[in-house]
Amino acid sequence: MTDLLTPVLTANWGDERAWRLTNYEHQGGYQGLRAALQMEPADVVAAVKESGLRGRGGAGFPTGMKWSFIPQDNPKPKYLVVNADESEPGTCKDVPLMMASPHTLVEGVIISAFAIRANHAFIYVRGEVLHVVRRLQQAVREAYSAGYAGKNILGTGYDLEIIVHAGAGAYICGEETALLDSLEGRRGQPRLRPPFPAIAGLYASPTVINNVESIASVPSILTRGAAWFSSMGTEKSKGMTIYSLSGHVARPGQFEAPMGITLRQLLELAGGMRAGRELKFWTPGGSSTPILTPEHLDVPLDYEGVASVKSMLGTKALQCFDETTSVVRTVLRWTEFYKHESCGKCTPCREGTWWLVQILKRMEAGQGQPGDIEKLLDLCENILGRSFCALGDGATSPISSAITHFRGEFEAALHTPAWELFPYGASTTYVREPAGAPA
Ligand SMILES: Cc1cc2nc3c(=O)[nH]c(=O)nc-3n(C[C@H](O)[C@H](O)[C@H](O)COP(=O)(O)O)c2cc1C
Ligand code: SF4
Repeated sequence: MTDLLTPVLTANWGDERAWRLTNYEHQGGYQGLRAALQMEPADVVAAVKESGLRGRGGAGFPTGMKWSFIPQDNPKPKYLVVNADESEPGTCKDVPLMMASPHTLVEGVIISAFAIRANHAFIYVRGEVLHVVRRLQQAVREAYSAGYAGKNILGTGYDLEIIVHAGAGAYICGEETALLDSLEGRRGQPRLRPPFPAIAGLYASPTVINNVESIASVPSILTRGAAWFSSMGTEKSKGMTIYSLSGHVARPGQFEAPMGITLRQLLELAGGMRAGRELKFWTPGGSSTPILTPEHLDVPLDYEGVASVKSMLGTKALQCFDETTSVVRTVLRWTEFYKHESCGKCTPCREGTWWLVQILKRMEAGQGQPGDIEKLLDLCENILGRSFCALGDGATSPISSAITHFRGEFEAALHTPAWELFPYGASTTYVREPAGAPA
């Protein structure tokens, strides 16, 4: 079964002090950069295009194509921005990647910036993960000392400054245009498009914004080749990627596998659901992707496969819930998150998420009113497609999909509290230490 795994990004995670430059170099680190610097920037873009790499931040946009949108005849500076704001509930791949092997990202940043002819690159990282901020800062310092960053990189005449910027911890700052506003020192709120960031992004200059995993995948494409990368995965979703399993799983964690693996296969690798329990529902890509059920266990986890069952691959954050879990309660918790994180710029999301929480709260308490299910669906319909950014759309996904698959539980919420139907103690994964256990 383990030959299903294809560790590339995760290959050195278990190594002794894998985050140090010398250890990364011993594993072949920075060979991708050396190869790239021998090439023309346009050829690096072409190689990434040919590999079929698609953005790992959720939407799956082809990375090489995004880079090729940067107008090279524009006299303004070009910028590379790495989106390291990872905050979607369930998503947990970029933080471990940056902790375990920050140089994989830093090397990717230097190659990618070279490809788009940028002399400044920013890594926008969530401020709360201070340990990651420090680790990245140390890795960037090491890269400068070794001549991989700064002036005249490896004697090629190419200059690059890398800035690690700590955000203040708002989910909306992961939305790429809100991120740019935040990076410029403003309150993070999404911008109207067009113009798109490739034309007028950071400081109104051409800007590429990519997810951590997208950029970290670039060095391996340079060292092993586009054909090697595209030999993995499925027809339209190429390469290997990190799947994160969490929830009621025996051995939760990150599993790097080719695109198109199924949840059934991943669960086998993760030891299955916790002892004696069955899968009830799951998210394929974080809380903003419509939930799925055991009937979808054999759906290929690539962009097309998950779309074919009316959900989205998203960030490949597979949150697995067993039969002890109340769907109503879970959906309420997610909706509370979206209400809290709504930036308030547009009415459907700002007001709609507030109303969704009010209704779901009374349903959790078994005090739903006749017509509440229809009201929830009506609110979702009025938020979806009418919000200024995808946060609003994402907030509706868990609710409408949960009603599709588990309508009976929402009907029961008109008379019976969720905690009576699903006592919360049974669904917790928190294990209390026995009294008197050593601290
Ligand atoms: C509310 C919201 C939050 C987002 N958070 C993140 C995030 O934390 N990290 C990320 O890479 N993309 C996030 N995205 C997606 C980005 O807007 C963007 O699509 C992505 O960074 C592009 O990178 P990629 O092409 O490499 O996938 C978010 C989008 C929305 C609407
Ligand atoms: S959808 Fe929500 S988060 Fe996005 S702009 Fe509107 S209020 Fe802000």
